[in-house]
Amino acid sequence: MTPLRLTGPQLELREVEPADAEALLAIYGDPEATRHLSFEPRTRKQVEAITARSVESAHATPRTEYCLAVTRRGEHRLIGYARLATEPQQAATIGFALHPTAWGRGLGTETVHLLCALGFDVLGLHRIWAARAPLNEASARTLLRAGMTEDGRIRDHVFVHGAWRDSITYSILEHEWVPIDGLDTGAAESGRGGNPGG
Ligand SMILES: CC(C)(COP(=O)(O)OP(=O)(O)OC[C@H]1O[C@@H](n2cnc3c(N)ncnc32)[C@H](O)[C@@H]1OP(=O)(O)O)[C@@H](O)C(=O)NCCC(=O)NCCS
Repeated sequence: MTPLRLTGPQLELREVEPADAEALLAIYGDPEATRHLSFEPRTRKQVEAITARSVESAHATPRTEYCLAVTRRGEHRLIGYARLATEPQQAATIGFALHPTAWGRGLGTETVHLLCALGFDVLGLHRIWAARAPLNEASARTLLRAGMTEDGRIRDHVFVHGAWRDSITYSILEHEWVPIDGLDTGAAESGRGGNPGG
């Protein structure tokens, strides 16, 4: 299943490469893009380590982490970073961030759909969930727009900017997901309805 490539109407998800560090730094090093994330803006060295770990995780057996570059369809440059990490019981958690210049055009929603396509269609998962900061209104609207349901609150979930903060969690089940038109999981076999174990 490596290398993975998923295509949507406007975007693609592809495997991360070491050369993506510069473009990822423009997101993970940016105070605005990381304002509501679980970490403070990253340094170049930290981002290089993240890209290196992302590349490495693609070759793990079994693969439990899918750290992917978000690009515009047909282009190679990373404009976002999307991650799906599998858990026991056919579940996975997702996270995603786009460069601020890409915000407000439906690309966040499409990114969540692409992660659902990966989780449900490629990996045959049953449940996908996400956590957002209470003040992250853009993420709340994006997760709901993609069809997720608010589940609840994890108290003191994350220590960031010198304080504990809660997270609001969302989930979507395999039978609830309504894919948008134009999603293509490529050559990967559909695992929908299958049982990958765990
Ligand atoms: C969250 C994020 C991916 C959204 O991306 P986006 O491309 O702007 O999202 P979309 O254009 O698909 O918009 C989806 C919904 O969010 C709403 N939205 C987007 N930005 C918003 C904002 N700043 N405030 C309030 N609503 C916002 C849109 O209006 C839309 O809602 P609607 O469908 O009800 O009209 C983007 O803001 C981002 O990368 N933020 C930084 C990282 C982050 O917070 N990641 C999420 C971690 S849980």
